[in-house]
Order: sequence, then structure tokens, then C-alpha cells
Amino acid sequence: MQLNVLVIGNGGREHAIVAALAKSPLVGKLYCMKGNAGIAELAECVDVDYCDLKAVGDWVDAHPDVGYAVIAPDDPLALGLADELEARGHKVFGPNKRAAQIESSKAFAKELMKKYGIPTAAYETFDNYDDALAYVEKGKLPVVLKADGLALGKGVLICETLEEAKDGLRRIMLDKAFGAAGNKVVVEEYLTGKEFTPGEEVSVLTFTDGKTIVPMIASCDHKRVFDGDKGPNTGGMGTFTPCPFYDDAVAEEVKEKILLPTVRALNAEGRPFKGVLYFGLMRTPDGMKVVEYNARFGDPETQVVLPMLKTDLMEIFLAVTEERLADVKIEWEEGACVCVVLASGGYPQHYEKGKPIEIGDLDEGVFLYHAGTKREDGVLKTNGGRVIGVCAKGATVAEARKKAYRNVEKIRFDGMQYRKDIGIKYVRAH
Ligand code: AMP
Ligand code: GLY
Repeated sequence: MQLNVLVIGNGGREHAIVAALAKSPLVGKLYCMKGNAGIAELAECVDVDYCDLKAVGDWVDAHPDVGYAVIAPDDPLALGLADELEARGHKVFGPNKRAAQIESSKAFAKELMKKYGIPTAAYETFDNYDDALAYVEKGKLPVVLKADGLALGKGVLICETLEEAKDGLRRIMLDKAFGAAGNKVVVEEYLTGKEFTPGEEVSVLTFTDGKTIVPMIASCDHKRVFDGDKGPNTGGMGTFTPCPFYDDAVAEEVKEKILLPTVRALNAEGRPFKGVLYFGLMRTPDGMKVVEYNARFGDPETQVVLPMLKTDLMEIFLAVTEERLADVKIEWEEGACVCVVLASGGYPQHYEKGKPIEIGDLDEGVFLYHAGTKREDGVLKTNGGRVIGVCAKGATVAEARKKAYRNVEKIRFDGMQYRKDIGIKYVRAH
């Protein structure tokens, strides 16, 4: 019997999840709360605020044809939407509130790593501005300041000078630029890459049912808004897979020193994690270290990872929920995939919405994942900071990126901005 599935979220990541589920023979009708114009072609979009736990619970209760819910974004997971739906007897994909704290509190994540010997940057946590300031004044530069709570990927400041660090602490802790997320701050050592260059980062998304952990193919994000990793951090401006340095030896090191110890640590703390656990890692001169954990699929990592998945995604989701992930063989396509994010002018700061989007004839095999889009009177319009991800596969990253960029030029909206160097490091390195 097929299951009708509700996917919660409204970005490019959710479009990629919905597209993968739409291919599954196990899945019947798809719903998406709230969805976007791209998702609307595959799923019935539901206009309910997914951070209102009661409203979501009531909607699912009122739709007994829905047999499964996938919670994709960080906010509802942090608020405990998985707990709410499970308490009402529904099957979900996504960690409960206690397990999701690995993302929603950076201080909690750092303490966990310290306690269980998981490699990460040295740090101190402060809830008092004067103490934090005194520590920063004595410490080394650059220094990394992280608001404890969720801040749309923008709560991390890398400060090159003492002035910047002082200003950052003031913004986070006194001006509350990220709201209550800044009640505590993690002050962290700045990690450099193995070749002493910044940016040797890799995202490893994993499926875990709390017993078994299965890494997906590794991918690389581009967090800064401008080419050459300049400008402020964003949610992510583009991704590619595979990652140039993530060979079998590195994967084995990560599994033994980071993935398995993290799952064991969460179990030991009475917070078994079921869902996607995302490891943001840095290759440093002392080996692989954790930069961040997320309690969910990454965005836009998912847009290059799921298209390479050969196994039925719904089969994996059900195995995670039922704690039998060890029985599923998860397989991936060979080759590469690239996603270039088209964003609204001004993102990640102020930007306008409602700009009409023109899309020309795309080459065969190129696919779009919508993020901030809506359809108004039949016209496709922008509706967010990140608007559309243009994705292409190829035998190599070079081939995939060429194909993606050729098609980027066929899409237009007022103020459109994108990075022109997604995946370029890989092409240069090989
Ligand atoms: P996060 O939200 O913790 O992933 O941080 C956002 C980005 O800031 C990361 O993807 C890194 O590029 C950078 N970053 C965070 N922590 C560090 C660190 N300790 N050293 C160097 N870069 C970092
Ligand atoms: N792309 C990074 C994230 O999803 O947090």
C-alpha cells in the first residue's frame, strides 16, 4: 500500500526531497507545508505555519490519509515538531527536540564534543559580555564568534581584528542582532585548512536511526555571498559533489573519529538521534575537525546529493523511523552534480520580492530546484532571498558546472545575483 506523505518546509532542499519522494513507488500523494511554485508541480501545497506546532498537529490529525511526515527545516525541529506529531501517533522523519539540540545550541554541541573527545576547534562559552570581551582581548586572531542559537546560518562572525571582534560581541550579546540566539556566545579558535588556506570544508550528511549511521556522498557548500569567498555568510550560494579531498582514507578517519563517536555520545546522553545528522567538517593540519552539526539535510547540499541517490528515499526514511537502517543497502550514482543558487539582489541583507522570473528553454538533463518562488496570476515571481538552484549532473564537476552555468544564463529576474565560481576550486585542483 502506498503512503501519502507530508513534507514540511519551503526551500530548494524541500523541492529536492519532494522530487526524490515523487519517484518512489512507496509514495502516493505528496503534500508540502508550505511549499513553493516548483514544489506545487509535484505536491499539494498547504498554507499552515510550520512553526506553530499545534496548527501542524491539528492539520495532520484532520488528514488521516497522510501516513508520514518529513520535517526538513531547523526551526520546527528545534521547537519539537517531531515530538508533537509522534505524541499524536503519527510517523515522522526528523529528530526530537532533545536530539535536535545538537544544532539548536552551539554551546551544547561544543560541550558534547569536548566531553566525548570529538575533534573540533578549541572554544569557551560565555553568557556575560564583559567576560567574553576579556577573553577575546587576551586571545589570538582571527577569532570566531558564534551566537548560541539558530540564526539562519548568519550567526557566525569571523573576526580578523580586535575591533571587529569587540564590535561582533556587542552586536550579538548587547544589541541582540540575532535575538535570544545571542544570549550565549561561543568564542572559538579559527581553523585553517590543511594547506593553510581557508575553505577546505566539506559537508557530510548522514542517515542515522540511532544505531547505524550511513554517510551520504560528501559535498561542498559556498557560504559567502560573493565570488572568491568574499562578503557575509549566507544559507549557501551553491554546492557540488564529489568533494576533491574526501577519499576513502578521509572517510574512514571521519567515520571512526567523528560519526560513530557522535552517535554514541548522543545515546550516552539519552538523546538518541533519528533522522539526518549533518557534519560540517574542516580538513586541518591536525586532521578532520567538526565545524558544526545540523539536525537535518543541508540546503543547498541536498540539491546535489539526492539527485545522485539510486536507492528509494522513502525506503530509507521508513527504515530510519523503524530503526532498521542496517538492513538497507544505500547506493549512489558515479559522477558529479553541481547546483548554482540564483539569489535576489541584496541577499543576505535586505532584498525585494515579487520580481517576475523568466525561464528560457533549458538543456536536457538540467533541473531546477525552486527556493523562494511563488506563482501569482500565472506568473512565476521571486519570493525569498535564495530563489532557484540550477542543477546539472556530469561525468566530472567541470562538465556539470559548465552545463549548469550555460543554463543559468537562460534565467532572468530583476536584481538576480549568483556566484560564478561554484566548484571552480575542484576544477583547478584536478
Ligand atoms: P557554522 O554556521 O558554524 O557552520 O559557521 C558558518 C561558517 O563559518 C562555516 O561554514 C565556516 O566557513 C566558518 N567557520 C565556522 N567556524 C569556524 C572556525 N572555527 N574556523 C574557521 N571557520 C569557521
Ligand atoms: N548549507 C548549510 C546548511 O544547510 O546549514
